[in-house]
Amino acid sequence: MFEAIDKAKDDPILSLGIAYQQDTRANKLDLGIGVYRNEQGNTPVMKAVSVAAQRLLCAQTTQAYLGLAGNTDYNQAMLDLLLMDSPAHGRCIGIQTPGASGALRLLADLIASAKPNAKVWLSTPSYVNHQPIMQAAGLEVAFYPYFDPLTKQVDEAAMLAQISKLGPDDVLLLHGCCHNPTGADMSIEAWQQIAQLALNNGFLPFVDLAYQGFGEGIDQDIGGLRLLADNLPELLITCSNSKSFGLYRERTGIAIVIGQTLQHASNARGKLFELARRSYTMPPNWGAAIVAEILNDPLLKQQWQDELNAMSLRMRGLRQALAEEFRLQSNSDRFDYLTAHQGMFSLTGFSLAQTEQLREQYGIYIVGGGRINIAGLAKHAIPQLVNACLAVGA
Ligand code: LMR
Repeated sequence: MFEAIDKAKDDPILSLGIAYQQDTRANKLDLGIGVYRNEQGNTPVMKAVSVAAQRLLCAQTTQAYLGLAGNTDYNQAMLDLLLMDSPAHGRCIGIQTPGASGALRLLADLIASAKPNAKVWLSTPSYVNHQPIMQAAGLEVAFYPYFDPLTKQVDEAAMLAQISKLGPDDVLLLHGCCHNPTGADMSIEAWQQIAQLALNNGFLPFVDLAYQGFGEGIDQDIGGLRLLADNLPELLITCSNSKSFGLYRERTGIAIVIGQTLQHASNARGKLFELARRSYTMPPNWGAAIVAEILNDPLLKQQWQDELNAMSLRMRGLRQALAEEFRLQSNSDRFDYLTAHQGMFSLTGFSLAQTEQLREQYGIYIVGGGRINIAGLAKHAIPQLVNACLAVGA
């Protein structure tokens, strides 16, 4: 039966982790997959998460099934976190999913069942899993201009020119903040223009939020999302708790639908239940229970925010130090763009040959296309990284 299956292509991100583990060099650097690391190279469990987990473990009385929506306290807490005080709060639903990839797939399936001829527009470039997920749901995918490889910033004029041509059969997938893989975020004015275009032309925006709190702060990072939610009749949202709560392996995410009316949103929820049932049935509870425990306890929530701020400050410091080291070693300011980027990643535009040379000759692992996970870097490794980048001709 399986002889007809072609050999699988390596995942461009996950395969790097395997290669890194097999690398025996002592001074190797893993700047591939998006995980936050401290100066010692560990991805620590957040204190707020530990406290919540211990409390839950002590209070646990059953492991019986939850329903198709997963942990409903979590769903409510996430809707409150993202949409509290928005007019959309009264006409939205959220269902817990296995990670945000699970949420992306579920909402892609929802789009495909509501409008099979819909076309999903992705930024150039976008998160590597966006296109495969949308296509696996049978949706057509197209790309809008986003990143300007010369300025390393968003080309908002080109982006908006394309978006202004979208209509009622189009879905516009946007990154909530800390764009993956580029690190370049659009201005709030661009979000405003997108909201106006969506109102005028009837396309459906879809916001994928995976790095809340890694940019300017938990409220500032959802400024664009809130603009859309507050002003549009319909919106799709996927949110990941992997990074913001450090719950990577617990696969905790949510799919949110804002409808014109609560009835429309509830209809969508019914469809999402059907889709979940025929795929994974229910999401795992542990990560969601932890997030709910944190968000529903003001002290724990404050602790979580403080920890998140500290992580974000560390990433800012690393960006600053990296840009300074590039200035020092290259005698030029051409890497200053690193300090203008947000979140974990920066897209350097290094060529495939340079990326391979970094890996093979210097034991430095970055994603093809030149995405560097700044959050995976230790301060003491910065001179080594800069030296290697310049040596491969960056
Ligand atoms: C990344 O982009 O590195 C992460 O979001 C991990 C993933 O799922 O690819």
